[in-house]
Amino acid sequence: MSELSRGPELMEKIVSLCKRRGFVYPSSEIYGGFAAVYDYGHLGVELANNVKEAWWKAIVRYRDDIVGLDSAIFTSPRVWEASGHVGGFSDPLAECKSCHSRLRVDHLLEDVGVMADEKMSEEEINALLSEHMKEIKCPKCGKSDFSPAKKFNLLVKSNLGNFTGDWEKEPVYLRGETCQGIYVNFANVLNASRKRLPFGIAQIGKAFRNEITARQFIFRTREFEQMEMQYFTPPDQEMVEYEKLRAIRWQYYLDLGLKEENLKWHKHENLVFYAKEAYDIEYNFPFGFKELEGVHARGNYDLTQHSKFSGQELLYTDPVTNEKYLPHIIECSVGVGRTVLAVITDAYHEEMVDDEIRVVLRFPYKLAPVKVAILPLSKKEELSVPAKEVAQMLREADLTVEYDETQSIGKRYRRQDEIGTPLCVTFDFDSLEDKAVTIRDRDTMEQVRVPISELAAEIKKRLA
Ligand code: GAP
Repeated sequence: MSELSRGPELMEKIVSLCKRRGFVYPSSEIYGGFAAVYDYGHLGVELANNVKEAWWKAIVRYRDDIVGLDSAIFTSPRVWEASGHVGGFSDPLAECKSCHSRLRVDHLLEDVGVMADEKMSEEEINALLSEHMKEIKCPKCGKSDFSPAKKFNLLVKSNLGNFTGDWEKEPVYLRGETCQGIYVNFANVLNASRKRLPFGIAQIGKAFRNEITARQFIFRTREFEQMEMQYFTPPDQEMVEYEKLRAIRWQYYLDLGLKEENLKWHKHENLVFYAKEAYDIEYNFPFGFKELEGVHARGNYDLTQHSKFSGQELLYTDPVTNEKYLPHIIECSVGVGRTVLAVITDAYHEEMVDDEIRVVLRFPYKLAPVKVAILPLSKKEELSVPAKEVAQMLREADLTVEYDETQSIGKRYRRQDEIGTPLCVTFDFDSLEDKAVTIRDRDTMEQVRVPISELAAEIKKRLA
């Protein structure tokens, strides 16, 4: 069984499979699509839910020192002034003078091997753009003539609660990241949960960014979900906890089932002024190693800003020493869509079976959107009625089940392989007599006969 080498061919195969089998659809497709927004289909929503459940368990449910939160998407616009997003949350944008495509200059520079990032000033970015103008090709028309880069703010604005008709004047922002909801609730959570430092607050939720480049499928979208955890520490413990968190997050991806050779650390060289240290965990996506998750040490910047802008004291009082201080924050932040793309890329395999290509998504069992498929050998009522009863029995045993009675058994196995179903159960004419069924394993294709009375337990044992 072979993993495909990275490149546009693999990307095309994944995008096509995702649409064909109901993982991910382009948004508003019947209206010609809506750039950089995607919808999750019946299998995509199960996969994304499994990804979120794995994260929530590892971060919240299995720990005593981290609690959950679900803050609203809308906040006071002051939150985004305090956070620095209104003034500085921007990417460098230039226009191709030939085809008028709007492009992210740091990405164009990266494509020709020049590192640039959003923290650079307009002048610095434009100096690099002029220097490398001849090497850079517009991805749409191939020309090399661009307008100077301008900083473009990524916050998405709305007219929530504004009935004046002039909502541009005092816009309310859709949140650009979920963690601001955590910072502004720090005092509430501290008081209600009675946690002591160090402790964390985690949340999963939607975020919105006016991303300039709409490419790379669900890797970079304008509406996306984040899974973020902010860990509040005494100032002198920040870096010790940071190293612990880095180790925990690395191990998390191995436990999730991603191959270690497809992961690597990337250290940020150009830090924002308040950051102590910043690393990304990169994954080997079909287009190469790119950021999957950020693990950052943010000092006390966030609480300082919200304290200043809200006028509220956000100090923590040490219960032993009575010392008052602003907690420092370390965070880990990852997108659900990015994780889903990493998981699908890691799982995608092709192999030759009986002179045909067998496509298999070798999902780790806990992430597979369908756990077991029930396949009667014939769609005659004689078999379909008891096979449907077996399917229902497994659903009630808390398994995600797909029932399929159309086409040959070989074709049905291939359909399940392609969506990563770990186990197929065939119900045949002998099943009527011996009250047993055949379980077929996705990866080994081995088959064993199991009594129906023991089926649920056997499946759970295999999936554990
Ligand atoms: N609170 C820190 C923060 O939001 P970020 O690096 O901008 O930092 C964190 O985003 C993570 O969120 C990224 O590592 C990525 O997984 C995900 N993410 C960010 N922008 C995204 C987008 N436009 N589409 C999909 N995922 C995105």
